[in-house]
Parts: sequence; structure tokens; C-alpha cells
Amino acid sequence: MQVAGKVVVVTGGGNGIGRAMCEAFHRAGAARVVVADIDPAAARAVATPIGGAAFKCDVGKEKDVLHVIEETEHQFGPIELFCSNAASIRCRSMPAERPTNRGHEAGPFTSWRTFMPHGI
Ligand SMILES: NC(=O)c1ccc[n+]([C@@H]2O[C@H](COP(=O)([O-])OP(=O)(O)OC[C@H]3O[C@@H](n4cnc5c(N)ncnc54)[C@H](O)[C@@H]3O)[C@@H](O)[C@H]2O)c1
Repeated sequence: MQVAGKVVVVTGGGNGIGRAMCEAFHRAGAARVVVADIDPAAARAVATPIGGAAFKCDVGKEKDVLHVIEETEHQFGPIELFCSNAASIRCRSMPAERPTNRGHEAGPFTSWRTFMPHGI
């Protein structure tokens, strides 16, 4: 997959894996990297040096996710790649109240997926 010239959104982009993806997508020539994070300062700290955009977004709140999608497409055009990085992982064999990660809230996305373009 090629991200050059494309609009990319990364949830949980303010730190860790999400941050690494934001920076990798920028290096790969993405037209705009949108950093969506529950921590707005972290989102800005990642977005600013890569010429990206920062949004405060709690993926546990559907309205926040819709806001990111709508504002991104309004400002930058169609989203080509949406990385649902911030999310909860729940295992069917475990009680629902025991998330398997570090306590990220359950949200509309109950699994996480990352998409890595070739060559990154
Ligand atoms: N690091 C690992 O070994 C590992 C392994 C398996 C799964 N994961 C999953 O990968 C994802 C990223 O992991 P990481 O290690 O980079 O985490 P991290 O804690 O380093 O970074 C997570 C980022 O997500 C943000 N965030 C947390 N809750 C959020 C929410 N509700 N809405 C939006 N943003 C939110 C945080 O502010 C932070 O910037 C997580 O979903 C995690 O469960 C990580």
C-alpha cells in the first residue's frame, strides 16, 4: 500500500505505536497525517513537526470519532487510510470487565487494527 499523497488518520497517534505510524506515514509522503488522541497536547506534539493536524478524540465516544472523520474530510479531503490504533482488546473467553490491555476504554471499535504500507 502506498500512502504518498493520501490523507491518513491515526487514533491514539499521540504516543507509542500510533506516534510511530504518524511519523512513518509522514516520511512516506502522506498528504496529511491526522493525529487523533484523547490527550490533545500529545496529539499536537506529534502533529506539529510533521505538518499534520491534531484532534482531541476519545474513541470510546462515537461523536468524537465522527467529528474527526467529518472535520478531516471537510478540511483535507477523503480519508484514504484510517488506523484504529487506540482501542480495547477484549477476549471472548474473559469477563467483559477485564480488558486485556492497559485499560483503554471500550468504544465503538473493540478490536485494533494497524495498516502498514510496504516499505515503511
Ligand atoms: N505496545 C504493545 O505491545 C501492544 C500490544 C498489543 C496491543 N497493543 C495495542 O496497540 C494500541 C497502541 O498501543 P501503544 O503501546 O502504542 O499505547 P500507548 O499507551 O503508548 O499510546 C496510546 C495512545 O492512545 C491514546 N489513547 C488512549 N485512550 C484513548 C482513547 N480512548 N481515545 C483516543 N486515544 C486514546 C493515548 O493518549 C496515547 O497517546 C493500543 O490499543 C494497545 O492496546 C499494544
